[in-house]
Amino acid sequence: MSELYIGLMSGTSMDALDAVLVDFSTTPMKLIASNTFPISKDIKEKLVALCTPGDDEIDRMSQLDNQLGLLFADAVNTLLNTANISNKQINAIGSHGQTIRHMPTGNYPYTLQIGNPSVISEQTGITTIADFRRRDMAAGGQGAPLAPAFHNAVFRSEHQDRIALNIGGIANITILPADKSKPVTGFDTGPGNGLMDVWCLQYQNEPFDEEGQWAATGKVQDNLLKQFLADPYFKMASPKSTGREYFNPDWLDQFSEIKNAKPEDVQATLCALTVESIAQDIEHSGASQEVIVCGGGAHNNYLMGQLSKRLSGCQIKSSAALGIEPDWIEAIAFAWLARQTRNNLPGNIASVTGAQHDAVLGAIYPA
Ligand SMILES: Nc1ncnc2c1ncn2[C@@H]1O[C@H](COP(=O)(O)OP(=O)(O)O)[C@@H](O)[C@H]1O
Ligand SMILES: [Mg+2]
Repeated sequence: MSELYIGLMSGTSMDALDAVLVDFSTTPMKLIASNTFPISKDIKEKLVALCTPGDDEIDRMSQLDNQLGLLFADAVNTLLNTANISNKQINAIGSHGQTIRHMPTGNYPYTLQIGNPSVISEQTGITTIADFRRRDMAAGGQGAPLAPAFHNAVFRSEHQDRIALNIGGIANITILPADKSKPVTGFDTGPGNGLMDVWCLQYQNEPFDEEGQWAATGKVQDNLLKQFLADPYFKMASPKSTGREYFNPDWLDQFSEIKNAKPEDVQATLCALTVESIAQDIEHSGASQEVIVCGGGAHNNYLMGQLSKRLSGCQIKSSAALGIEPDWIEAIAFAWLARQTRNNLPGNIASVTGAQHDAVLGAIYPA
């Protein structure tokens, strides 16, 4: 059976679709092709609108489900063309889908990702595996984070404790003890780049703060930072997961102080919130010799610098230092998760998500 898999990932930032083609027949695995495909302003606006309750959701969601399915399929076909590889050579696509609601608490917790996998399968001729998160939730888990099993497979070291830190719209950590008898744990620490993106768009008209240059001109407002950090999410015990349903413009609006502060100071303080919430959780984990950073936040030099200063006792490095560019880790994780499902192997880690057991995740849409 072919060991070529495609992974499709579009996270809470909704900045772009990341697509990778990976060969798992070698150790380490080989990234054959990778590309990022823009998500148009129109689609992004429609997606953001679906993240909060509104009118006629079923119709809007179902149309967008298909629109994204077509976009994802186009991305796969383009990726294959670039790599000069035929669809027949690919074992399966692992498609995360775009999260439009993640509600892990309540009587009937749910999580919803769209990007119609039937359309992907039909348009690419490749078996598509999707809907990974709901199985973990059905087993009593948070449905997130799911990258930890992959982090465990590729980043765990026998020699030192490591933490994999993903800074996307939301940030999450995976604690990888050197001692193999210890369980892998992990959870969403809170906002990653998401709130900074929101603020930057509002005051700089840019989708994100390039290398954190704008934040670097501001001054952290200690009192405001304290108020941010008083949010109950940061004190909650794991397992826990969150999303833009919670950390969003409405969340920011509750802090009246931001209206009187200089916008660049707020940006610096939001960056400090990301740094501090991550640092507190890493310190608390006790297993922090080496922190491997992935996700778009790894490109925010100011953020990375602040994190290194704050966690001076541990080595902070981009995943690039271990041979995988930070931008592709999450998409590769979904290629890997598809392979797990194909091989009837679990994709979650119960000690991370809080599920009752490890489970084979996802639904298979045959070619
Ligand atoms: N050069 C850069 N400078 C600063 N921030 C960046 C840079 N490149 C990416 N980012 C940040 O990373 C985010 C995208 O990260 P990503 O890992 O794709 O998140 P998600 O999984 O939520 O889509 C962007 O929205 C932006 O905030
Ligand atoms: Mg992204």
